[in-house]
Amino acid sequence: MVASKICAAGYYVPEHTVSNDQLSEYVETSDEWIYSRTGIRYRHMSGGENTSQLAAKAAKRILEAAGADPLSVELIIVATISGDYATPSTACLVQAEIGAKNAVAFDLGAACSGFVFALSVADKYIRSGLFQNALVIGAEVMTKTLDFQDRSTCVLFGDGAGGVFLRRGNTGGVLAEDLGSDGMSAQSLLVRHSPVNNLCTQQSCKQPFLCMDGKAIFQFAVRETPKSISRLMDKTTLTYDEIRWIIPHQANSRIIDGIARKLHLPADKFYCNMYDYGNTSSASIPIALGQLWEQGALTEGVRVIIAGFGAGLTWGSLLLEF
Ligand code: ACO
Repeated sequence: MVASKICAAGYYVPEHTVSNDQLSEYVETSDEWIYSRTGIRYRHMSGGENTSQLAAKAAKRILEAAGADPLSVELIIVATISGDYATPSTACLVQAEIGAKNAVAFDLGAACSGFVFALSVADKYIRSGLFQNALVIGAEVMTKTLDFQDRSTCVLFGDGAGGVFLRRGNTGGVLAEDLGSDGMSAQSLLVRHSPVNNLCTQQSCKQPFLCMDGKAIFQFAVRETPKSISRLMDKTTLTYDEIRWIIPHQANSRIIDGIARKLHLPADKFYCNMYDYGNTSSASIPIALGQLWEQGALTEGVRVIIAGFGAGLTWGSLLLEF
């Protein structure tokens, strides 16, 4: 069987951390409010590094872990909604920074599902035989999209990057997938690009910042993610006991509790790190993979489900085997 073997994972986050208590010095909020509603206590914030710089630092760590020469990289996909520029793509900037001059590089935007979508795309390129390997990264400087006077959004997000390196092989990789989109609910979460974008009717959308109907996103995530994971499992003969972790997008611990309850699975089956990182959008799942890789937990044969949900609306689940 031709497969996209996952050879390494890695991540990078900016050094500077901001606690809930520190945030409450700038905006009317409290550690108690944020932590009890989201499970978030800290987030990393870029002090000037842009998205491509976080992505390139993660990329260097991933390639080193994979023992891969940058000149051998054939494909780079960066999932992001906070790229340095509209064009050039963040992936092209990463290509230049790491010296991967033989690669094809492009960005993919599917918000917090972006890494899941990007990994699915890279898997198809590799399995088709077009490319022998791929570097897939999720990277965001979400804090540059935030209005720090809007307490309902600015307390939720953080910055970071993570990713994986895939090589064409015979085992493991993406065993099953389920992807979906609902553009009819697009106005639930917007990051404005230009003044002609009139999709959103919320007052806060008059500003060039991320704006979100938090309750609608919450309900969507708890409704659609368990369905997506169930459909994914229906495509395999595996049981949940044969899956080591489910790694959902790290938006909110209450969303993850809701997903666990609907799937009748114990909470400790779900990997959670939003306590330290907040919601890093497309970077959240690969940061988790990078952490598990560094801990030596993603050994040959280990299976995990990654499950993204976010703006678009978009959602997607992949069953991965290392
Ligand atoms: N501190 C203190 N009070 C606050 C804060 C804050 N930071 N933010 C809002 N409040 C207030 C509100 O003003 C409101 O006050 P009111 O009742 O007097 O009007 C009250 O707290 C309750 O607000 P709710 O919106 O009802 O709070 P809720 O329990 O729904 O939690 C939250 C809000 C955390 C945003 C939740 O809805 C959520 O997590 N939604 C999902 C968001 C998400 O996951 N988004 C990311 C998707 S990822 C992507 O694609 C980029």
